[in-house]
Amino acid sequence: MNYEVTDCIDAGTEYCPCHLAEVGECILCSQLSGKTFCDCINWKGVCIYQEYVWNGEKAKAQRKNYFCKVLKKEIIENKVVIFTLLTTHKIAQDLMHPGSYIFMRSPKTTQFYDAPISIMDVNTEENWIKVAIEIKGIKTKTINNLEENENMLIRAPFWNGIFGLKNIYSAEDGVSLIVARGIGQAPMIPVLKKLYSNGNRLIVILDKANYREAFINEYLINYDCRVIECNTLEKGELSGELKEIISRCIEEEKINLLHCDGPDILNFKLVEFVEGRVKTASCNNARMCCGEGVCGSCSARFKGHVVKRLCKIQTEPKKLFEGRRLI
Ligand code: FES
Repeated sequence: MNYEVTDCIDAGTEYCPCHLAEVGECILCSQLSGKTFCDCINWKGVCIYQEYVWNGEKAKAQRKNYFCKVLKKEIIENKVVIFTLLTTHKIAQDLMHPGSYIFMRSPKTTQFYDAPISIMDVNTEENWIKVAIEIKGIKTKTINNLEENENMLIRAPFWNGIFGLKNIYSAEDGVSLIVARGIGQAPMIPVLKKLYSNGNRLIVILDKANYREAFINEYLINYDCRVIECNTLEKGELSGELKEIISRCIEEEKINLLHCDGPDILNFKLVEFVEGRVKTASCNNARMCCGEGVCGSCSARFKGHVVKRLCKIQTEPKKLFEGRRLI
């Protein structure tokens, strides 16, 4: 069977129904997407239409901004800054799951500076979150100007940082393979935690890309990962070494999941290479601006004039690249 199971990451949460329902663009509910009959495409145990009517035919309140004190700031190789931020207990709890991310900026700047950043680690006892940011452009350089004990402004929680989430949750008591390249090391940590807590043995293929050293070594030790260092890409193609390792892991270790935290070219080539031999998950590299399905910056176009808002839609990595139009 090759049909697509589409889901909305916010369906059934406190943020559903959202603005999309108000304009007849709900991803799941037929009533709220221009039809006059009930034909939910993925029932989540909550009737979105009923929630909408009960809420006075309005969207629920959307995510708020919070001030978070910078508890710690670490600079790695002059390229990456790791912030530990003090948050509320509720926000820390909401950001525990793989794929969680926040928008962050300096309080001295306007909303245009909001940068989507993946959560690297969360502590719900001490209520802090940790994020790693590659210092590259205007937004990240401005964030890097903040020092310890100053306040960071965050908008949270958001959850669609990974495609194929259900494959991560269903991988249990087996061997899982994770590929991470460059800054992809950071969003990999919540995935490692989840897979480890589900009783899986972890193999990590680590491509340091342009970093001298990995900045997540303590996590690799804590989650008892077998680490294989490898150059993943060669001239835009998967390296021979990577292909060999993956094939060996599929045949000998019978891996239950291949998760990749890397650029889209790596995610795409990996999905193509394993061709349905193993379940896959990958990070979401879409350019996010609002995270609420409104601005359209994350939209991708597919065959048949289909437009998907990648900040909202939860699907398998395979379906993300199939039939995608690049013009
Ligand atoms: S980030 Fe604005 S619509 Fe997706």
